[in-house]
Amino acid sequence: MNKSAIGGMPRPDRKERDGLIRLDKLLTHFGCATRRQAIDAVRRGRVQVNGAACCDPAAKVDPERDEIRFDGVVQSYQKNRYLLMNKPRGAITAVTDRRETVLDLLPESERRGLFPVGRLDKDTEGLLILTTDGQLCHALMSPRRHVEKVYLAGVSGELAPDAAARFAGGLVLRDGTECRPATLEPAGTEDGLTVWRVALREGKYHQVKRMIAAVGGHVETLRRVAVGTLTLPEGLAPGEWRPLLPDELKRLLSHTGEE
Ligand code: URA
Repeated sequence: MNKSAIGGMPRPDRKERDGLIRLDKLLTHFGCATRRQAIDAVRRGRVQVNGAACCDPAAKVDPERDEIRFDGVVQSYQKNRYLLMNKPRGAITAVTDRRETVLDLLPESERRGLFPVGRLDKDTEGLLILTTDGQLCHALMSPRRHVEKVYLAGVSGELAPDAAARFAGGLVLRDGTECRPATLEPAGTEDGLTVWRVALREGKYHQVKRMIAAVGGHVETLRRVAVGTLTLPEGLAPGEWRPLLPDELKRLLSHTGEE
């Protein structure tokens, strides 16, 4: 690290700066934060350079030689990129479509090589992972890995008294499709609808809507709030996104057996 750039000491001259890069910018290159998040994280002391907290986002560091830690995790250029989005209603979960896709919600500079992990219906909102990592995508979607996906469904109509037991026992849909055991729990009310928490370990077409229909209800609103170890951050509004934090990625990869 160029120590003279840290802690308010005189700035290095042009020669010294060769090959150096601002700390906040390097964090964005690593793919672990947007520029705004990087500045905030550095100021809050969450970033260490060669073992010491560095609170100056403009500090110049050497990407080749300095060890950068974010929340204690050593950072390096990532082969893959990982974003978390709160998908808004109305966007299509696809890379290209004639209608607005989730990729269209990202600045063009971020889109290259990204694809959504799994599908959410056009009228579903909530947690969606976008990545360039095909292996992680497979691990999260493969029915054999049993990664849990959790939804909050706003439902009209009365569910059958044995609905939760039927979910737990492996519900059979109206068309005869057999579902894996799933969890159904009441989760309050919202806008006059009964909210049900549904946890699945597979991802069939319109699965939550069809399971709820099979026990007598109608899904009016649907929001995904968790995938494996990842939960939808409270402050992330529909349409907003951010890179996965190092710790979130680490836990997700180890949960899916990819690390
Ligand atoms: N189940 C559904 O019915 N729709 C979704 O978008 C996701 C799960």
